[in-house]
Amino acid sequence: MKAIAIFPGKIGSAHLREIPKPKVEDAANGRGVLVKVLRVGVDGTDKEIDAAEYGTAPKGSDFLVTGHESFGIVESVGKNVSEFVPGDFVVATVRRPGNSIYDRIGTYDMTLDEIYYERGINLLHGYLTEYYVDEPEYIVKVPQGLKEVGVLLEPTSVIEKGIAQAYEIQRRLKVWQPKRAAVLGAGTIGLLATIALRLRGIEVCAFARTKPPYLNSNLVKKIGGCYHSLQEISLTESSKNHGPFDLIFEATGFAPLAFEAMNVLGKNGVLVLSSVTGGGRNIQIPADQINLGFVLGNKVMVGTVNANREYFEMGVKDLSQAELTWPGWLNKLLTHPIQGLENYKQLIETLKGKKEAIKVFCEVAPLP
Ligand code: BGC
Ligand code: ZN
Repeated sequence: MKAIAIFPGKIGSAHLREIPKPKVEDAANGRGVLVKVLRVGVDGTDKEIDAAEYGTAPKGSDFLVTGHESFGIVESVGKNVSEFVPGDFVVATVRRPGNSIYDRIGTYDMTLDEIYYERGINLLHGYLTEYYVDEPEYIVKVPQGLKEVGVLLEPTSVIEKGIAQAYEIQRRLKVWQPKRAAVLGAGTIGLLATIALRLRGIEVCAFARTKPPYLNSNLVKKIGGCYHSLQEISLTESSKNHGPFDLIFEATGFAPLAFEAMNVLGKNGVLVLSSVTGGGRNIQIPADQINLGFVLGNKVMVGTVNANREYFEMGVKDLSQAELTWPGWLNKLLTHPIQGLENYKQLIETLKGKKEAIKVFCEVAPLP
């Protein structure tokens, strides 16, 4: 079967190759689930993998099959699988457990291990192929009514984890009632964070570079958020009218903004950092001021990466509620479909070149 793969460490090495089709029996104890891939989204991580800044091949392989944002349909199941039947729509999680205590209780997104395993990213082949086999533990069912937008579940799981962590941390306050949030970034992650917070009844200010109006700012407005262009007003300036913020979700990929966010975070507030920034930037910061604000304001900051199945399940609920509350909104995020694995060049060129794209994804097979 066909797969899109790269040679780790080699810039622009994406290619189409033939790999063996997996079998249900590939998983131990009759626990295999064979999934036919329908759609796979690509994101900033795939861009870094293409630029050879990220990505590692599985042991004993010189290539890595990429793709970690999957959506598919169950084709067959092993004899000891009761969780799925053929025809179920599913999304697979990305990370697989290592050895730390957190891995052993199913929270592999919290691993202490230096080496982590992520399908399509690090040491495990991904989903940009025709079929994959995995165990039910790593596969999440998606209702039929979400099939059009199911490919958004993996990025949704990332924001679900960040928001859940914020609420978990804020239990320290006994009566935390967040009213105002800032979301930094209006790409897929920023928009999904915005809708998830709006569904929780929180006022949201979204901040991104581009001047409005454009699709992303319209999408923020549509769900009752307000949009600010950082080319027109700084986060600090804007916070004077719209802040202080009880929760800030950082998803711009521009690390200096995280430090500005620390300063505009409200008392007792929580700042969630989710950008994977591979660069080596140095900046000057008002260290005393930030430190003082954190101490006198009892503020918290938390980093968040990846997601375990619990957050995928939360994502299914939020995507469902989003679809019922603002029908068609999620679909508008799917701006750039690319048909077929053989068009891998166009997939990567679109990901790299189309700045206005929200979600670029490969239609591996048509939705049934
Ligand atoms: C993926 C996460 C992953 C992270 C770091 C992101 O693009 O969505 O699942 O943990 O990259 O590799
Ligand atoms: Zn605002």
